[in-house]
Amino acid sequence: MNFLKEARNLPAALPVMTQAHILGRFLTGVFPQIVSAVPADLGRTLDFGCGHGLLLNLLKRNAKIDEGLGIDIDSEKIELAQRWAIAGVEFRNESLADVSGPFDTIISADVMYLLPLGKWSAVLARFYDLLRPGGRLIIKTVLKKNNWKHLWGCLQEQIAVRALRITEQQGSEFTYLTASEWREILERHGFQIDQFREILFSPYNHALFICRRPS
Ligand SMILES: C[S@@+](CC[C@H](N)C(=O)[O-])C[C@H]1O[C@@H](n2cnc3c(N)ncnc32)[C@H](O)[C@@H]1O
Repeated sequence: MNFLKEARNLPAALPVMTQAHILGRFLTGVFPQIVSAVPADLGRTLDFGCGHGLLLNLLKRNAKIDEGLGIDIDSEKIELAQRWAIAGVEFRNESLADVSGPFDTIISADVMYLLPLGKWSAVLARFYDLLRPGGRLIIKTVLKKNNWKHLWGCLQEQIAVRALRITEQQGSEFTYLTASEWREILERHGFQIDQFREILFSPYNHALFICRRPS
């Protein structure tokens, strides 16, 4: 993926603050690395907690998905996402319960840690049910680690959710897990982990899990 070319494709028609938010995500959220790391045959893809729709637009433009549906609890973000959705990509203010599968892939970037641990089982079970057998679950997250990057990531999310209110959260509990806790919970919910990678050279503990619902 050509970083500079994609940066030029960011949405000039959206309000300046939204453009700045999307550019911030693009620069700090390791999107080019995610797009490069995922396979090219993601098919029909659901993005859970799609925000302004950056990831699905990038995946579609880089021919990684056939069609995409992004959902988010934040109706304002969805309205903005709809304004720069490219052909084959759709955004809806819907919950997981409203969505109809099957999907070839479910992807979610920096959302699960916003949910209380008590809700994870229902969400992971719903992901499993919405995927076709053999379908992929791709999770981009930040890991809990005993380092300054973890403290910095937690602080930034607290500011985004509580002070700036640019990120919606249901409830008030964050859930950061270590890599081994992630592995355990994904496998307990039936997923096979095909790939795990940490994305280094960044001020966050970025990590990517590419999993599969067994056939
Ligand atoms: C840090 S942002 C990431 C947005 C996008 N995935 C990205 O990478 O740019 C987290 C997003 O998750 C959404 N979110 C939080 N809880 C959610 C839930 N229960 N269901 C759907 N979306 C949720 C928020 O509204 C927000 O847009």
